[in-house]
Parts: sequence; structure tokens; C-alpha cells
Amino acid sequence: MASIRERAGSAPALAPAESIENVPEHVAIIMDGNGRWAASRGLPRLAGHEAGTSNIRRITQAAGALGIRYLTLWAFSAENWSRPQEEVSGIVRILGETLDRELDELHRQGAQLRHIGSLEGLPTELRNAVLAAIELTRENDKLVLTLAFDYSGRQELLAAIREIVAAGIPPGEIDEATIDRYLFTHDLPDPDLIIRTSGEFRLSNFLVWQSAYSELYFSPVLWPEFGPRDLEEAVRDFSRRERRFGNVSAEAARMTRERA
Ligand code: FPP
Repeated sequence: MASIRERAGSAPALAPAESIENVPEHVAIIMDGNGRWAASRGLPRLAGHEAGTSNIRRITQAAGALGIRYLTLWAFSAENWSRPQEEVSGIVRILGETLDRELDELHRQGAQLRHIGSLEGLPTELRNAVLAAIELTRENDKLVLTLAFDYSGRQELLAAIREIVAAGIPPGEIDEATIDRYLFTHDLPDPDLIIRTSGEFRLSNFLVWQSAYSELYFSPVLWPEFGPRDLEEAVRDFSRRERRFGNVSAEAARMTRERA
């Protein structure tokens, strides 16, 4: 795709967090473009996922440095199971290796690991390792790092509705807060900013309910190359936006008052 920017990599230098006003509290990222990154180098798709996974470390560190409190990364969608078996088992292997390699450092840096989606499709040993990592880091509060694995926004909503019905909550008592409580994300704030890399302009079933008022940022950069500077640019772009949540801007409100 001609619009995709490919670069030799981003320099890690970041402006101090205090120089950006209004840093989003919760940033969620659709990490897209691993396959195209690999193809453009004549490499197998799994090499793209390896490179994409290495990038998680530098983006997590950059997020912490920018003052982002919650970082949610979409690693695998419920629909991704339909990819070729070799790719799926490769991603599962990468998940296990990444956990082994990165967990101590994540814990040392005060990151709290969470998961949204399903762990049912994972081998028992890996599922237990993920649960143990979540338990180990439960008290950490520097950064909440949520991995969306085998995640689908519509399935999450459907499961929530089924549980609400099963709990016997009368229809008249169901409000938005009820639905929030039954989602995987019940104790996370909604994402302020959702980033998708690789020049695709859609959310693809990600955080369907929670993204209602999220600011969206689409980057042409392929995920393995989306570096700290790209994250900083997305955060700066966010910080310049005015979020109105259905209201009018402060300026428009002032003009309306003056005309009255
Ligand atoms: C999209 O690239 C990427 C994914 C399927 C998810 C991201 C996966 C990783 C970063 C590796 C797995 C990491 C963990 C921790 C399990 P794509 O394959 O859709 O790329 P394409 O659109 O260019 O084909």
C-alpha cells in the first residue's frame, strides 16, 4: 500500500511527560501490520509477529515515560483463530516465550498485567502461566498493561447481556453502569485514545462498548516500526483535541450565552 510509511526505526528520545498537557489516562492500541512488515522484507509472517512483540516492550516503556496509566494492547482477536494453523500456533508460542522473558522486568518496573478475552484456547500450562503472571503483578500500580487475547468486543457484550439476564436483573434496573459492571473491563476506565497502526481505518470489533467516546488515531506506520516518537505524536495529537462528550465547545457555550 503506497500510503504505508516504512522507516529505519524511531529514535527513543522522548520529551519529558510534563511537557505534554492532558496526557490520555488510557491508551488502547490495535497493533496491526506485522504481516506486511514481514512480507516487505521477504520474511515469514511469524517474523513479523516476533518483531511486533519486541516492539511491545519499547512502547510499554514509552507509555510509562509519557505518564499513561493504562495501556491496552490487542494481541489476538477471537477471529484470528481462523488464520493458518502454523501462524496461530506460532503466536501462541510467542506469547509463552514473551511471558517467560519479560515478566520479571515488567514486575520490577511496577506494571500490573491483566487480560481481557478468553484463555480457554491456550494450552493449560500457558493459561496457568498467564494467570500466575496476573496474580504476581496484582498489586503493582505504575502502569496497568492489559493484553486483549482471544478478544471480541461483540462477544464480550453478548456475554455481559447473558450474565445480566441470568442474574435476573429486571429490565427497568439495567442502565449503562450495569453493562459496564459485566464487561471484562469493569474495573478499567474507558479508553481515552485508541490507536490503530498500519493505515487501516476501522476498529474491527475492538472495545465496542467502551470506545463510544474514545478519540481515534490512525497511523500509517506498521506496528513493528511504531516507535516511542510515534506514540508521543499520537499523544500530542490527542492533547490538542477538544472532547465534548455530546456537549458543545466552551467557546460555543460562551457565544450562546452572550447572544441570549
Ligand atoms: C496484526 O498483524 C497483528 C496481530 C494479529 C496481533 C499482534 C500480535 C503480536 C504483536 C504478536 C503476538 C504478541 C503476543 C504478546 C501474543 P497482521 O498479522 O494482521 O498484519 P497484516 O495486516 O500486515 O497481515
